[in-house]
Amino acid sequence: MTYKQRIANICKQHDVLLIIDDIQVGNGRTGTFFSFEPSGIKPDLVCLSKAIGGGFPMSLVLINPDIDIWQPGQHTGTFRGNNLAFVASRAVLEYWRDDVLINHIADNAKTIVSRLQQISDKLTSTPVSIRGKGMVWGIDTGDTPWASDVCKKAFENGLMIETSGANDQVIKLLPPLTISNEDLCIGLDILERSIASVLTNRQSVMSVSVPTMPWQTLTPVQVS
Ligand SMILES: Cc1ncc(COP(=O)(O)O)c(C=O)c1O
Repeated sequence: MTYKQRIANICKQHDVLLIIDDIQVGNGRTGTFFSFEPSGIKPDLVCLSKAIGGGFPMSLVLINPDIDIWQPGQHTGTFRGNNLAFVASRAVLEYWRDDVLINHIADNAKTIVSRLQQISDKLTSTPVSIRGKGMVWGIDTGDTPWASDVCKKAFENGLMIETSGANDQVIKLLPPLTISNEDLCIGLDILERSIASVLTNRQSVMSVSVPTMPWQTLTPVQVS
């Protein structure tokens, strides 16, 4: 039984409503539209935002009709219902008319997991744990965190990633769902190079081959 199924059972036993926050991991992030689909649970409320608006301000609360006491139009406010966001959100849902996006996510997820596994395997003297699903992944750097250093180095190298975890010890990967496999691989190369650079500076041993990125061979142009 998965932890979500266990929580759903506890909620049922104690007559507690189950709310799923799918703000970050919904809309395909984990490989299905809702993150909880594979577990088969039926939440009472679901929060959706971020990707549902395609970059525009949009958030939704889905409520099981059996417990929904709101009347249509009752929950109003000055800035509710941004028109442009509704149009963008409608366009986002077009991606779910067929399996193209879902297959694309599954293919890219395979690339991510195999590359992260390779990186993790090479970090023999600085063990990390990797975890994630679909297009949301984390590299946990453990008790002596160097995740922030990697994010800074990656940024210098043209890749924007952030940290998460209680002590900011996790390097968090959230690539765009529509990213091409080629761009994804460029990002993973930069990540690997940034980890190697940070750990080399920390005098740790990591036997990675550091690829040279195309733009590193370019001569800077002087703008007068
Ligand atoms: C999973 C999750 N839930 C809730 C929120 C909070 O959303 P808001 O920015 O509207 O407070 C965020 C914001 O990053 C989030 O990632």
